[in-house]
Formats: sequence, structure tokens, C-alpha cells
Amino acid sequence: MKGIILAGGQGTRLHPITISYSKQLLPVYDKPLIYYPLSTLINLKIKEILIIVNPDQLNNFKKLLGNGSQFGLKFSYATQKKANGIAEALIIGKNFIKNNSVALILGDNIFYGQDLYKNVSVINNNNGSIIFLYKLNNPSQYGVANIKKNKVTSIVEKPKKPKSNYVVTGLYIYDKNVSNLVKKLKPSKRGELEITDLNNLYIKNNNLNYIKLKDSSVWFDAGTPDSLLSASQYIQAIQNRNNILISSPEEVSLKNKIITKVKLNKILKSKSQNDYYKFLKDSEN
Ligand code: G1P
Repeated sequence: MKGIILAGGQGTRLHPITISYSKQLLPVYDKPLIYYPLSTLINLKIKEILIIVNPDQLNNFKKLLGNGSQFGLKFSYATQKKANGIAEALIIGKNFIKNNSVALILGDNIFYGQDLYKNVSVINNNNGSIIFLYKLNNPSQYGVANIKKNKVTSIVEKPKKPKSNYVVTGLYIYDKNVSNLVKKLKPSKRGELEITDLNNLYIKNNNLNYIKLKDSSVWFDAGTPDSLLSASQYIQAIQNRNNILISSPEEVSLKNKIITKVKLNKILKSKSQNDYYKFLKDSEN
């Protein structure tokens, strides 16, 4: 399976912070936001990743992430010129996806907990698509799943009167048919190719599976000043309390045996001696 991180968009809910700088490069406590979805993909055993960014931010992303070799991965880049919707990522990524299944993750989505990793083999061997649902008190700002008899019967984007508390998080697994299906989408009223419309197509074809993330796992979409700050505070509290690093791609690669400690140590030689890199130096495989 291949991976795509969508890190485009104008981040309007974060203006003026994101007028000149990408949302996905902003800090969540001690690391850039994009490190979190990147770590999620590594935990799903994905090694080839396409990163889709705004054209004027490409150099910033390349400076941070390079060709992926520092994490034992292979990165390529593409640009999304306008905010034409999440589903456009699958059109931009067509030649990258080729005949593979693909995990698409939004560059501002933070997943933390054991839930996802327990499902790695299910996720990697799926025939169809998988969405990940998370229970929220106020689901209206998200795609909301309508569930009947253990089946998702429809998804409604930002409903005024949500029919459940289960929101569709920004991680989507699609089978190799996705490039054909995504061609059928038409722009919505807000002029975007909606990921919800694609998921509803999969529902129509009886091919949409879902995994409910446990309440004990954590999901943030860090797209507003409040959620960005909450995410930072959460990460700070847990990291310092338990003396761990959450979603460090270097560490996740090491744990998954994608890079060796010898290689990591070599990379660390060129890095500054701050808490983040010191932690990595001391971590074991
Ligand atoms: C997008 C999707 C929505 C999903 C959310 C998850 O919303 O359209 O269905 O629940 O991501 O982060 P947006 O962030 O574009 O408002």
C-alpha cells in the first residue's frame, strides 16, 4: 500500500498565522504538525509516500522532509494549486498510486493510541475502502456517519442536525479502483471534490468498511487556533509525564525496524543537541 499526505489548503481558519506559512508546518508542541500524520503512515507500514503541498510552500516541505531517506522512506512531492477539495489528492496522485491500494491522510490529523496499529493487517489486506470513526460530542463540523445495523449507510458533510456522534476522521484507505471512482465526482456547492462524496460512492457499491476508534484513543484535527493549542498541550502533558516522544517519525521508523540505530545515530550527528534529538539518541530499537 502507498501513502498520500494532503498538506495543501489555505488554512483560512488559522489566518493570519497561515497567510505566509503552511498549517502543516506549524508546531504541535515540539514538532511540526505533519510529523504526526507521517508517523501514522509509518506505523501502518507504508514506505512510499506522496506529499501534496501548495506550490509556494514546496521548498519549505522539502527542507524539512527531504527525500525521506532520513526516516528510511521514499518521498515524492506534488502540488495542489487551488483548494479544490480533499478528493482531488487522489487525482493529483493518480500516477503515483498506479495499481496499488492507498492510504490518504490529512496533514492536520493527529492520531494517538493503540487502535490503529492493532488493525495494521486488516488495513493492509482490505478489498475496498476503510474509514475510521471517532465519537465526538459536537460532530457538526465534520463528515458524520449514519450507521444502521452495523453498516454505514451514508455520510453527511457538516450536517446541521447530525444523525450520529461518529465523525469520519481524516484517514482513508482505498483499493486500487479509487482512481476510476474519483473521476466520477463533480464539484460540490462549495466548489470542491468532496471526500465524503467519494466515500458515499463506495457505500453505494457496498464497499465501505469502517473501524470505530476507541474513546481511549485520541484524535485531533488541528485546523483551528483552539484545536492546535489543545493538541500541543495534550502532547506536552503526555510526553513529559511518561517520558516518551509521541509521533516522532525517526523513532517510529526505528521501532518498526525501517531504520537501524546505527543509521539514526549517523543522522543525529548533524542535528542540534536539543531535547528532541537527545531523546532520539537515547532511544533503543
Ligand atoms: C474534512 C472532511 C470531513 C472530515 C474532516 C476530518 O473536513 O471534509 O469529512 O470529517 O476533514 O478532519 P475539513 O477539514 O475540510 O473541514
